[in-house]
Amino acid sequence: MKAKTPSESRTITTDMVMPSETNHLNYLFGGELLARMDRAAYITARRHSRRIAVTASVNHVAFNTAIPVGSVVTIEAQISRTFNTSMEVFIDVYIEDRISGIRTKANEAIYTFVAVDDTLKPVEVSPIEPETEIEKQRYDAALRRRQLSLVLAGKMKPSEANELKALFDN
Ligand SMILES: CC(C)(COP(=O)(O)OP(=O)(O)OC[C@H]1O[C@@H](n2cnc3c(N)ncnc32)[C@H](O)[C@@H]1OP(=O)(O)O)[C@@H](O)C(=O)NCCC(=O)NCCS
Repeated sequence: MKAKTPSESRTITTDMVMPSETNHLNYLFGGELLARMDRAAYITARRHSRRIAVTASVNHVAFNTAIPVGSVVTIEAQISRTFNTSMEVFIDVYIEDRISGIRTKANEAIYTFVAVDDTLKPVEVSPIEPETEIEKQRYDAALRRRQLSLVLAGKMKPSEANELKALFDN
């Protein structure tokens, strides 16, 4: 299969935070943010694979900054690496200052999707060719994240997670 670049399937969504989407402290409810990120990441995985994609795991979520009601939230999702049938999607979340318009990063997350056919059987996806420096860094680190996720899911023996083990051997 021909390699594709992350920018070909990048998905950017911008939406605001309504009162019904907040917790009792008037900040964006975490579950609402997870759903927004999942939707953007799904579109990215679908654009890359041209298949139905299902969320296989949420590998990492960092709620670094609380997002107040009324905020304008931009979510950028792009493929960081593909394997055989799975795709790691990296999600960056930004909020913008109302007066200056300056955008700051609020949160990030990493999801894994699997492309499936109509019977939900996993199917192969195109490889990804990172272009920018950050895309290359995320591509390189994705193998460790995959191994960690598979070990935690009980789908890989810790002794087989060579890339992950190398982190602790240095
Ligand atoms: C995700 C799913 C398709 C995987 O099916 P499976 O029978 O475990 O398939 P396999 O073991 O062959 O794994 C398929 C791929 O998923 C990856 N995978 C499975 N579990 C994973 C996990 N916890 N973390 C990272 N990758 C995972 C495998 O590594 C493999 O990737 P590869 O082909 O690139 O090497 C299946 O578990 C499923 O349908 N889950 C439900 C999904 C769902 O309902 N999501 C929420 C709504 S969309």
